[in-house]
Amino acid sequence: MKLAIIGTGYVGLITGACFAEFGYETICIDKDEKRVNELNNSKCPFFEPGIEDLLNKHLNKTKLLSFSSSLSNSISNADIIFITVGTPSKRIEGEADLSYVWNVADEISKNINKYCVIVTKSTVPVGTTREVQNIISKKIHEENFDIVSNPEFLREGSAINDFTRPDRVVIGCENKKSEEIMRELYKPLNLIDTQIVVTSIETSEIIKYASNSFLATKISFINQVANLCEKVGADIQDVAQGMGIDKRIGAKFLDAGPGYGGSCFPKDVKAFINTADKNDIDLSILSAVDKFNDGRVVEITNKIISKSNLKKGDSIALLGLSFKPNTDDIRDSTSLKIAKTLNDMNIKIQSYDPVAMKNAKEENPFLVLCSNAYEACNNAKVIIIGTEWNEFRALDFKKINKKKNKLYIFDLRNIYSPKELKELGFDYFGTGK
Ligand SMILES: NC(=O)c1ccc[n+]([C@@H]2O[C@H](COP(=O)([O-])OP(=O)(O)OC[C@H]3O[C@@H](n4cnc5c(N)ncnc54)[C@H](O)[C@@H]3O)[C@@H](O)[C@H]2O)c1
Repeated sequence: MKLAIIGTGYVGLITGACFAEFGYETICIDKDEKRVNELNNSKCPFFEPGIEDLLNKHLNKTKLLSFSSSLSNSISNADIIFITVGTPSKRIEGEADLSYVWNVADEISKNINKYCVIVTKSTVPVGTTREVQNIISKKIHEENFDIVSNPEFLREGSAINDFTRPDRVVIGCENKKSEEIMRELYKPLNLIDTQIVVTSIETSEIIKYASNSFLATKISFINQVANLCEKVGADIQDVAQGMGIDKRIGAKFLDAGPGYGGSCFPKDVKAFINTADKNDIDLSILSAVDKFNDGRVVEITNKIISKSNLKKGDSIALLGLSFKPNTDDIRDSTSLKIAKTLNDMNIKIQSYDPVAMKNAKEENPFLVLCSNAYEACNNAKVIIIGTEWNEFRALDFKKINKKKNKLYIFDLRNIYSPKELKELGFDYFGTGK
């Protein structure tokens, strides 16, 4: 089976490399020539654990993987073509910007000359895959292609494992022929008994948005309960533990913090609300989730400023810049939102992140980059732990507060014990404690 993947972002590249690992001849296409050149030299354009090894193996040894910037030269032999381009938010009304998907659909329609299955793997609002079908059928007879929705559930930071050991694979299709081809494609996962959920195209599209929206809802819910805990002297981590043991609830996504960020949840929640609005459906639960999350980072920033009495000219240490650990993705990073507000107050932001500093500095030139967490903490009045990278979990705080000064620490991810840090002279603030 020959595969073509259009878009080599986090999803496209992982999809391509993992399908090559499954043994398929795979070509990945991106319109960004610089990116394609880098990839052809085994250089990954972003940080993701394990991806460079897979690239090296399948580009140079098995030669199952190749990259091209020319869509027209690359898709005609493919049995399955995946659309994995971005679907960012139009921001104002929250609608997904589908212009990249429409462009690709149009390009595909001009460049296929044998039967193939065309798959939307990008996260797309319900109705999009049908519209892709309409665009292609303007040039290609409907017997000569099938359309499938196969949303992706991988998480940055653990993307290879998520792709190769998924909880489930969702396939939205409309006939047996395309279902069989997709089942054959995912056959390597039979070994680990992965559930394949076959649905209609519309259902598949909704599954993706409903899943991300539900996870986002858990996060906003636990953050609201965290605020209540702070007020009444309860501990959100103990509350979450007590809740999460209940199998009906589950322990995941019950970590209080500065709100959800990243390249998916914020935009997907807004797009799902937009879809409901357009269909006159009350999804006000999700509107509340979204509104609270938008305000969450402001609330947290205000707490930092007021509790530590931060003023113009002060310095802070900001540990962690990416939106979560194990990635250099800074899209909608809460740490950077906090940094921008503090920079506007003329506060010096001494920052450190294991891999995201280059990306962060490009968009936020005001950041003072440090070579490690300790350097970032030098002469800082406040330390903010913004991302729970492993290397921030066992910092030597005696080294940081040698003089036992009054130093503030805002542990937005609750990775430290308040008691221990208070004993070391810190004014410690966790989240929901
Ligand atoms: N990032 C994630 O963790 C994640 C997880 C699951 C689903 N998704 C969804 O997958 C989709 C892709 O996300 P991403 O994070 O990989 O995006 P991304 O922005 O990292 O990558 C998109 C890539 O598509 C390329 N592209 C755009 N138009 C093109 C065209 N006409 N021809 C060829 N290449 C083109 C861009 O150059 C870019 O490299 C989105 O819909 C997203 O919501 C993302």
